[in-house]
Amino acid sequence: MHPVVTAAARLAILRGPMAQIIDGKAVAAQVRSEVAKAARELAGRGIVPGLTVVRVGDDPASAVYVRGKRKDSEEVGFRSVEHHLGVTTTQIELMELVAQLNADPAVHGILVQLPLPKGLDERAVLEAIDPRKDADGFHPYNVGALSIGIPGPRPCTPAGIMRLLKTAGCDPRGKRALVIGRSNIVGKPMAMMLLEAHATVTVAHSRTTDLPAEVGRADILVAAIGKTELVKGTWVKEGAVVIDVGMNRLQGGKLVGDVEYAAAAQRARAITPVPGGVGPMTRAMLLVNTLELARAAHLPAT
Ligand code: GUN
Repeated sequence: MHPVVTAAARLAILRGPMAQIIDGKAVAAQVRSEVAKAARELAGRGIVPGLTVVRVGDDPASAVYVRGKRKDSEEVGFRSVEHHLGVTTTQIELMELVAQLNADPAVHGILVQLPLPKGLDERAVLEAIDPRKDADGFHPYNVGALSIGIPGPRPCTPAGIMRLLKTAGCDPRGKRALVIGRSNIVGKPMAMMLLEAHATVTVAHSRTTDLPAEVGRADILVAAIGKTELVKGTWVKEGAVVIDVGMNRLQGGKLVGDVEYAAAAQRARAITPVPGGVGPMTRAMLLVNTLELARAAHLPAT
């Protein structure tokens, strides 16, 4: 079957992209080098940041993600440990491991890779992680901390997006920002961070009645719905900054985002590619969180 390509999209492809392409790979490499430098300084004081990842079962995507996270943390000089538990692990066994990691002073960051196998209670596990060791920023305490502006670990994907906006020279202050998607991991924390940065924030979702009109008003657009090219390029406001969190795999293996990239790039001032935009930043911000957790554990603010 041929994919449907709109006339506008065809024209856009012929004209080529006009927008600044926000290179997430390059920004992530910069973040990693900053973290590596800070880790060397900490090592000079006898502190080695430790990230422990817990993986349960044999989800192939999780195995790939965890391998990437471990590689990154080793490269920046962290102590990297993985606990791989079998698919038949019980809730009690998993909770016991989390309790043991909470009590281990060499562990500064704990990440339990999601999704967990069926039958395990994800919420209970996330709540069991000591908020001071919550490398993902998913613990309800840290979610609350974000909402009222207390420092703490922040969810990695929206934190990475804030950094991408900065490198693109986009200050959210006074801008209209539209976040499409209301997940706990991306959409909701993204909205909070943009609000904290003084944007006027709208959150759209599957029940939003006129998505094209919402997109057309947005100076900053963050698309995090997980639907292939749902956002049409012609909807995008001229001069907008477009951040595409989508990672949708087409038949044949090609990865595409939630935004019709070529057509959107005609109208946007700056846009993230898929892949190579938001994805690398999520991994990099996990290192930032772990570094900050190690600092907070050993060098409490005076
Ligand atoms: N599974 C997919 N992405 C993530 C993530 O950022 N954190 C955790 N814990 N699990 C995930």
